[in-house]
Amino acid sequence: MLYEIVYALVGLVGLAYSLDYALDLRYDAREPKRLPSRIPLIGHLLGIVKYGTAYYNQTSERTADEIYTLDCVALKIYVSRSRRLIPIIQKASKTLSFRPFVKVVAREMAGNSEEACDLFDGSFVDEYSQVVKSALLPGTHQDDQNLRMAHSVISLVDDLVNGGKGKTIGLLEWTQHLIVEATSCGFFGVEHPFKDPEVERAFWRWQLYLRSQMASVDFFGKANQEREVVNKAIIEYCRKLKDDTSKVVLDRQRVLKVAGMTFEDAAKQETLFCVAMFGNTTPTLYWFIWELFSRPSLLEEVRRELEEHAITRDKANQGEHVLDIAALKTRCPLMLSVFQETQRIHHVHANIRKVTADTFIDNGRYLLRKGNYLQMAGSPIHYSEEIWGPTQAGSKEASFVPQPSAFMAWGTPPHLCPARQFAATEVMLTVALLAVECDIFPNGGQWKSPTLRYNDVAAILSPGKEFELQVKPRRGAGKWDVKMGMGKTQVNILSG
Ligand code: HEM
Ligand SMILES: *[C@@H]1O[C@H](CO)[C@@H](O)[C@H](O)[C@H]1NC(C)=O
Repeated sequence: MLYEIVYALVGLVGLAYSLDYALDLRYDAREPKRLPSRIPLIGHLLGIVKYGTAYYNQTSERTADEIYTLDCVALKIYVSRSRRLIPIIQKASKTLSFRPFVKVVAREMAGNSEEACDLFDGSFVDEYSQVVKSALLPGTHQDDQNLRMAHSVISLVDDLVNGGKGKTIGLLEWTQHLIVEATSCGFFGVEHPFKDPEVERAFWRWQLYLRSQMASVDFFGKANQEREVVNKAIIEYCRKLKDDTSKVVLDRQRVLKVAGMTFEDAAKQETLFCVAMFGNTTPTLYWFIWELFSRPSLLEEVRRELEEHAITRDKANQGEHVLDIAALKTRCPLMLSVFQETQRIHHVHANIRKVTADTFIDNGRYLLRKGNYLQMAGSPIHYSEEIWGPTQAGSKEASFVPQPSAFMAWGTPPHLCPARQFAATEVMLTVALLAVECDIFPNGGQWKSPTLRYNDVAAILSPGKEFELQVKPRRGAGKWDVKMGMGKTQVNILSG
């Protein structure tokens, strides 16, 4: 039996080599150069299934080419690892298109009906994304949303301080819960669908199967099962939206229905939104805490900066502290820099485009063939020493001003994350409160970098294992409030 398997394997590898050779024939010399896979034929496919977009981080290290081809059996993936090519690719957006993916995501991730998915074929895609974008622009409705989020963060950090006694927590679980709770308060209102812990747990379990679900290889239907729990809660919520439901949710539900979506399909779009809402912010917060608290002297400097610019204490009312959000956004450059360095170092996203017609880019230098995919890998740019100098989170000189186009954490225009101001405010606020209120120590004494979990569909990966921390309050319990300041103040993030 064993020998049969071995022979079969040898046979398979032989077959793979000959197919690999045959594939070579369907390769046009004007296409970007092929990068051979270590295992013939299926090597790249296996790599992508296993590592997701982080695979391009590895392949990009094996070539100096600005753009190269990965053969994945029936189709090709062109991987750009160059900042120079980004605007060139954007210019060809008619045939290197982001649009088809809205439909793919609606079908595979949200589980929308075919009729609902078909809506995303036409010009509605652009209208829909415009509505989302406008509802997230700074303004008074954003302040209300931020305030609900901020009060939730204050209460969760207060829980952690635990009346001065502190707590032992798992950092991943804690950040997951904080982001679901605070973000939901912001977007869905304080009586949100994730109040039920079972719904929150189902959401996170669903994330573990999301990539398999998208690739139609979730053979046991795990993802569907978990998603249904979330869907049910969101559908219930959507039956009667609240007084404090955010503008973006109200607007989105309205335009979807006007366009002809059924109630259930429209509600499922909110489930989909939760992936964008929680999936990226959670690991960003996780690593921001990690990078800051594992550097005691940097932490001290950040504390000084916060105390000097963003915190006031009410002397008359002992123990009442106020965090000025506008000042946090605009007057704490060191804090902001640690945040953006965290994003730069941990980013693994690759923006995707579908090649809808044979396209020459870069003055005819490269041919991209119809039906294939193009990915713009972010981390090779983020790790380029030419652009950023030697990599060490938090070690940049204050005077160093990098170019916005080299920072891909929020995507690239015109597909920048529409919620970047909200998300940046949320993580800055959380880390600021933690820094001022708490000391944090790893349970084993060491900040030992964990292995990563590659299942997620996210711009930043989560750790594969839980990390236990002891939280020790720096002084007795105090009451916190926030001051919002002007609705128009923005975090000065590189992407704008
Ligand atoms: C730190 C947190 C976040 C990060 C790092 C992040 C990152 C990104 C990136 C890189 C993209 C572009 C994707 C691409 O072109 O391939 C994107 C798009 C998007 N994000 Fe975020 N995001 C975050 C938080 C959020 C939150 C809280 C929301 C909730 C409303 C959100 C909603 C969206 C939406 C709706 C899009 C699609 C935009 C479009 O279709 O053009 N994101 N995000
Ligand atoms: C990406 O590559 C850099 C080195 O170029 C490495 O330090 C980093 O850990 C890699 N990230 C992932 C997620 O593989």
